[in-house]
Amino acid sequence: MNKAVTIPQPALTALAQFPIAFSDGVDYTAAPGMAWAPGRVNLIGEHTDYNDGFVLPIAVDRVAAFAGRGRRDGVVRLWSSHYKAYAEFSLAGLPATFARQREALPGWARYVLGVVTELVNAGVTLSGVDAVIAGDVPLGGGMSSSAALEVAAAQACALFSRGKFTIGTEAAGLTPMQVAAICQRAEQIASGVRCGILDQAASCLGQPGRAVLIDCRSLEYRYLPFDAPNLSLVVIDTGVRRELASSEYNVRRQECEDATALLREIIMQREPGNEAARSITALRDITREQFNRYGAELPATLRRRAGYVIAENARVLQTVRLLETASFEEIGMLLWLSHAGLRDEYEVSCDELDTLVMIAKQVEGVLGARMLGGGFGGCTINLVRDEAVEPLRQAVEREYPPRSGRNATIDICRASGGPGNAWAR
Ligand code: GLA
Repeated sequence: MNKAVTIPQPALTALAQFPIAFSDGVDYTAAPGMAWAPGRVNLIGEHTDYNDGFVLPIAVDRVAAFAGRGRRDGVVRLWSSHYKAYAEFSLAGLPATFARQREALPGWARYVLGVVTELVNAGVTLSGVDAVIAGDVPLGGGMSSSAALEVAAAQACALFSRGKFTIGTEAAGLTPMQVAAICQRAEQIASGVRCGILDQAASCLGQPGRAVLIDCRSLEYRYLPFDAPNLSLVVIDTGVRRELASSEYNVRRQECEDATALLREIIMQREPGNEAARSITALRDITREQFNRYGAELPATLRRRAGYVIAENARVLQTVRLLETASFEEIGMLLWLSHAGLRDEYEVSCDELDTLVMIAKQVEGVLGARMLGGGFGGCTINLVRDEAVEPLRQAVEREYPPRSGRNATIDICRASGGPGNAWAR
């Protein structure tokens, strides 16, 4: 646990705040410890995860972090350095007391309660903790601040449970992918959004200089180098956050399930000899040929949704092949196409995201751009030649405020490491 790890700044910030936030003389079990986990960008493969498809995320150099000390009782007290607020819940009676305790907590603390509850469900024994939470993942902005918080919470639980469970290999405890699945369920029960596994898996699996291709059906994954020389990943935040994001997310997921069920019916009827049709359970299973042949029979909305998902899955696999030959110009083209699909067929974009993508398109040296994450606000991801970063910044500063009535924030992200934990030295 105390191997030479680089401790991210937000973990050190949380550690410095701990004695100020918790100064009431609790008898702690041990010295303070820290835990952290990164946010992510997704190069391509949006809204494909819950369709059993493919995603290609990169964990970034932004983290959510905990610094805390273990308690002898079953109390969890948290101080959020972002919200400047405390929250408290009890391990007693979980998971049965989850729903009641959730209602009494602010949104950010519900994610932590969710993780703790799902760890209990997985058979893990935990003890209480006092902890400060800090971080530098933009909140609610499409870089998965909630997944970073969840995975950091799991890392904190592993540290403060003092060896009762570990995160590493199957033999030694929970694998990173098992932790991702626990955190995905935590997100679902905390927020009511039926999210896929993209964000939590990206955070759990992050490695410096690498993107990770995840098959969201088998949960197999493989790393690909993402250390493009002279290229930057620029994330531009619209400054927009919309409630719609949660409700429409669940609607999209339902539409995909409906489209799958209808296509399965149609294919089984038209191709009685096609045994494979019986095992169609997700849009992943519909080939482009089948969609071209039968898609027109779907209601218009479902046709657009399914068409987008099927094309996006193919774009992920194309991007993987292009990464292997470092063909970044072509990858950029796939990003523009992905955005067009998210805007016109999947209908999860918004004016501000479209405006940022349009501005980026006019800047020479921007290879591609698209909205990132669930949609309805948040960020765009831009694949940019280094020399075009400054012109892009200037174009956004000049054109975005008059066209949207807002200011955008611009960040350059790097493919960085994954989650971790450490005792304070
Ligand atoms: C959100 C969800 C993910 C994924 C993306 C869209 O970030 O949490 O599971 O579905 O939207 O790709």
